[in-house]
Parts: sequence; C-alpha cells; structure tokens
Amino acid sequence: MAPLLVPNLLAGQGKAIERDPAWKPAPTRPVVCRMRIGNIELGPRPLMLAPMEDVSDPPFRAICKRYGADVVYTEFISSGGLVYQAHDSVMKLDIRENERPVGIQIFGGDLGQVRQAAAIADAAEPDILDINFGCPVRKVVCRDGGAGILRNLPKMEAITRAVVEIATRPVTVKTRLGWDDNSIDIVRVARMLEDCGIKALAVHARTRKQMYRGQARWAYLRDIKKQGLRDIPLIGNGDALSPEAVTRMFEETGVDGVMIGRAAIGNPWVFSDAKSFMAKGTVPPQPTWEERIGVVAEHLDLKCAWLGERRGVNEMRRMYGGYFKGFRSASVLRARLMKAATQAQVQAVLEEFRPEQAVQRPSRGATVRASLPHFSRPKKQRVNAHQKQKQERKRGQRQPPVENHKASHGAQHTPKVLDVV
Ligand SMILES: Cc1cc2nc3c(=O)[nH]c(=O)nc-3n(C[C@H](O)[C@H](O)[C@H](O)COP(=O)(O)O)c2cc1C
Repeated sequence: MAPLLVPNLLAGQGKAIERDPAWKPAPTRPVVCRMRIGNIELGPRPLMLAPMEDVSDPPFRAICKRYGADVVYTEFISSGGLVYQAHDSVMKLDIRENERPVGIQIFGGDLGQVRQAAAIADAAEPDILDINFGCPVRKVVCRDGGAGILRNLPKMEAITRAVVEIATRPVTVKTRLGWDDNSIDIVRVARMLEDCGIKALAVHARTRKQMYRGQARWAYLRDIKKQGLRDIPLIGNGDALSPEAVTRMFEETGVDGVMIGRAAIGNPWVFSDAKSFMAKGTVPPQPTWEERIGVVAEHLDLKCAWLGERRGVNEMRRMYGGYFKGFRSASVLRARLMKAATQAQVQAVLEEFRPEQAVQRPSRGATVRASLPHFSRPKKQRVNAHQKQKQERKRGQRQPPVENHKASHGAQHTPKVLDVV
C-alpha cells in the first residue's frame, strides 16, 4: 500500500505513515449537553433535590426550586398507603404548578399494590413517576421494598415494567449499587432497567449494607455511564455535599445530573452555590442574616399552611439544625426555637436574633455563611448535674442528690433525629 503523506507542519516536512486497512471509526455516543428525562428538557448539568422523607415536602421543594433545583422529588410514598388511602400517603401526592418538573416517588415490594399505586400516583399528574429501589430501612427491605429488591432482580424487572406500562409519563428509578459488596451488579442492573423503558436512572453510590456509612463510591457511577446505560441519563447521588463536590461528581464520573440530599437540608442555597461554582469557580456572597431568617420564616409559614400550625411548628424543629449549622451559639438559638410552641413565638425568637449583634466569623468552606450573635453561657451552666456533684464532693461539700436531670436544667427539647431512608 502506498504510504500516506501527512504534512508535519511544525517541521515543514512531510512524514510517511502507514494506513491501517482494518481501521474503523470508534462508535461514538451522542454528547449529552442538555439533559432530557423523556420529554422533559433540562439544561446542562441539572441539579435534583433528592427525595427525602420528612424533608422534601411541598414547602421545602418550593424553596429549593427558587434557589436553583432543576427537578424536585417528593418524599417516598408507600404503595400500600396509597392503595389503602392512608392520609399521610395521599397527602404526599400534593404537588404544585410552581415546582415543576416534579417527580412523585413510590415504593413497595408487592407487584399488585405497586401497579395500583402507580396508577394513583400517575393520576396526580406529576412530571415524573419515580420508583424507589434504594431505601435501606429494615421494615421496608424485608418486604422487598426499597433496596430489598436488589436481592430479587427478576422482581425488580417485573415491577419496573409494570410501572412503565401503567404510567402516562416518564418513569425513573432510584437505586443503590447493590445489596452488599458481594452482590454489586449495578452495570447490568442499569442496562436491564433501561431495557424496561425507564427514562433516567439515579444511583446512590452505596450498597444497602453501607446504609450511609463510608464514602459513596463514585467510580461505579463512571462504570454505569461508560458500560451500563446507552441512551438514558444517569443521575449521580451520594456525598455531593458541597458545591465543590457537586462539580467533582460531574467531572469525575460523567453523570448527566447530580442529585443533592443532605446538603440541602437547611441549606437550599446549595443549588445556586453549586451552579455558580460550576460556571465561575466561585460561590455567591453569603446570604445576609435577614435572608436566612426570612427563608426560615417562609419555610415555617408554608409548613403551617400545609400541615396546620401545631404540626408545622413541630416539623420545622427538624430543620433548625441544618439552617443554623456551623454558627456560633447555634445551640442556644435552636434550644429557644425548640421551646417555641406557636408560629408567632418562633417568629419572635428569630427576630430577637437580629443582626445588629451578629458577629461575622471566618467561613469554613462554601457552605458556612454568616454567624449568629454570640450568646456565651457562663461556664458553670455547661457542667451537668452529675459533674457538679462530683466537683462539690471533691471540695468536701455535701450536695443534695439531684433527682431529676430535666428539673435541674429546665426541660430540654431534643430535636427528633430524622430517619434516614
Ligand atoms: C432524612 C432523609 C430522608 C430520606 N428519604 C428518602 C426517600 O424518601 N426516598 C429516597 O429514595 N431516598 C431517601 N433518602 C436518601 C436520599 O435521597 C439520598 O439518596 C441520600 O441522602 C444520599 O444523598 P446525599 O449524600 O446527597 O445526602 C433520604 C435521606 C435522608 C437524609
């Protein structure tokens, strides 16, 4: 074969190379610049608010949407709950026009129930119907719900096919890498789910056994993207905990979208921060104290409107940890907020912390933004009753025994720890 002359422009001389007769162009995949979920057009690098029980309700979704979440998901809804019309399950179908595109997420391990639930959820007219195959909670997995289905892939396939058949809108799946380290088969599972007709796959890069421990294993996301999915987008999830981490997840794994969970709790600004970081490498200035308090007050207001004042005030207590995380004396403010029993009382506590007293302190990373006024407590108050007795004994003084820890310190309200699904 005649050698092909390729001009060497740098040297100004021709250089002969052999043409390989067997050479064929490598199969190219379309470069996904803008992401689509079925007929839903999203911009490049979209960010999703993760489904989170007791968190991703209409009030929080609305706020996250305003701060840049491109797609939001409801909390997971039990198929059985929908079939038997349990009040709390039906209530979670409540979606609003201003939060679209919104996905309703259902879970369940009973094919018959999931079918019915899919029809009910579909009738609520979300933009997306999502199936939860990732919840690690024991009472869910023991009935093949959530991540439990990862031990029964034929059933996973049957449920997915059934939901795709019933739904009149794009179906997506959210799952984990596998049941445990010995059974990770996510590349094949991804392909199987795509063959069932889903329109996007979200993967929390941990196994069920890991629950929330250890690091999310993003390398698997890269594998799914390269070898698993062909035409549908992959949404990466797990440990996208800051704007920098969101950016890294896109860059290191090639996912089409990133789903943010815990980092958004009490920090809806994470969406706009992440977008700014991706575009410019910087995050916007911290929101003023007024803005933060305003968002908390708005969140409370929306919660009360949705759930009624008593439940709204109670449920908001789970959010203060996130909203005031990292602030000096946050525990003092949180304790006061926990004690406030009405919306007006919460509002009053928030207003009492107005910024003329606020002290700015050096920020620790992009997510810590401002600081609360410093209400330092006298040291002795930090000593608990038991330690106090010990100290007194040491000094040789007698103390009457403390009978009731609460009585000696005033009632302590402990925020309910959120169940992690
Ligand atoms: C409080 C809480 C509730 C959750 N509820 C759900 C749920 O209802 N459905 C679901 O698929 N995942 C649920 N998850 C898991 C998250 O969607 C997400 O997969 C997980 O938090 C990992 O993402 P992250 O590292 O960004 O937080 C929940 C997580 C948390 C922290």
